[in-house]
Amino acid sequence: MGKPSNLFSFGSSDELARNFRAYIVDAQNAALARHGQFRVAVSGGSLPKVLAQALLMNGSGTGDDVVQFDKWHIFFADERAVPLDHDDSNYRLLKDDLLDKIPAESGKPTVHPIDVTLLDDLQELADQYEKLLVQSFAARDSVRTPTFDLVLLGCGPDGHTCSLFPGHPALREQDAWVIPIDDSPKPPPKRVTLTLPVVTHALKIAFLATGEGKKEILHEIFDTDEGRALPSGLVNEAAQDRVSWFTDSAAVENVQFPSRQGSVI
Ligand code: 6PG
Repeated sequence: MGKPSNLFSFGSSDELARNFRAYIVDAQNAALARHGQFRVAVSGGSLPKVLAQALLMNGSGTGDDVVQFDKWHIFFADERAVPLDHDDSNYRLLKDDLLDKIPAESGKPTVHPIDVTLLDDLQELADQYEKLLVQSFAARDSVRTPTFDLVLLGCGPDGHTCSLFPGHPALREQDAWVIPIDDSPKPPPKRVTLTLPVVTHALKIAFLATGEGKKEILHEIFDTDEGRALPSGLVNEAAQDRVSWFTDSAAVENVQFPSRQGSVI
C-alpha cells in the first residue's frame, strides 16, 4: 500500500481557485526546471471555467507565482468528435473560457486540438492524436507511456473521468495511448480519450469536483470498494498520492475519508 490520494475541500470558489492556482503553478515550475516546457492535459465539463478563474486571477506577486503560458503545451484528456467551433467541443470550451481571455503580455500556450479532417473515422482520429503525443513526448518505441506533467480531470456523477465510463471495455486498454469511444452515455456519443495507463502515468493528476451533485459519487469513490473500481476510483488506486482532488464542502458532505481544508502547498 502506498500513500492515498489527497482530498482537499474548500469553503468558497475563490479559495478553491487560489489553491488550484498554487498547485498548478508549482507543477509548472517543476516541469520548467526539468525540461523547459509544461505539458498538461485538460478535460471538458466544469474544469475550463475554474481553470480560467485560477490562472487569470492576480497572483501573489512573488517571483514564483507566474503562469508562463508561452511554455505551456495543452493537450485534451478527452475530446468530442465534433468540429472545433461546435458547442460540444472541449477545445471550444477551453478557448471561450480561457484561451481567448489570456492577456497578450502573458504569452500564448501551444494548444494541440484533434485533427477535424478525420471526424468521420473515429479510430483514425484517435490514432492521429496518439501520433501527435508520440511527436511531443518521444518515439513510441523509446517510451512505453508518455509522462504528462499534469493531467486535469473531472468526475461524472457515475464516476467516469475523461471519456472512460464505468464497465466499459476501454478501461482494460493497456497498449494504446488514445482510443475512440462511440457509445458514450454522456452526449455526444462519439469521442476520443486518453487511456488509464496514460492518465495514471502523469507526474501529477488533479480532479475538480464541486457542488452537491458530486456528494454521492465522492462518497462511493473514497469510502467503498465498488467506488474504488469506478474509473475515477481506478485513477486513485493506480496513481495514489500523485492524485489531488479539488472539491468544495458540498461535494465532500458524505465522505468519511479524511479531507483536508486550507492550503495545498
Ligand atoms: C467531457 C469531460 C468529462 C467531464 C466530467 C465531469 O468531455 O465530457 O472531459 O469527463 O470532465 O463529465 O464534468 P463536470 O465537471 O461538468 O461535472
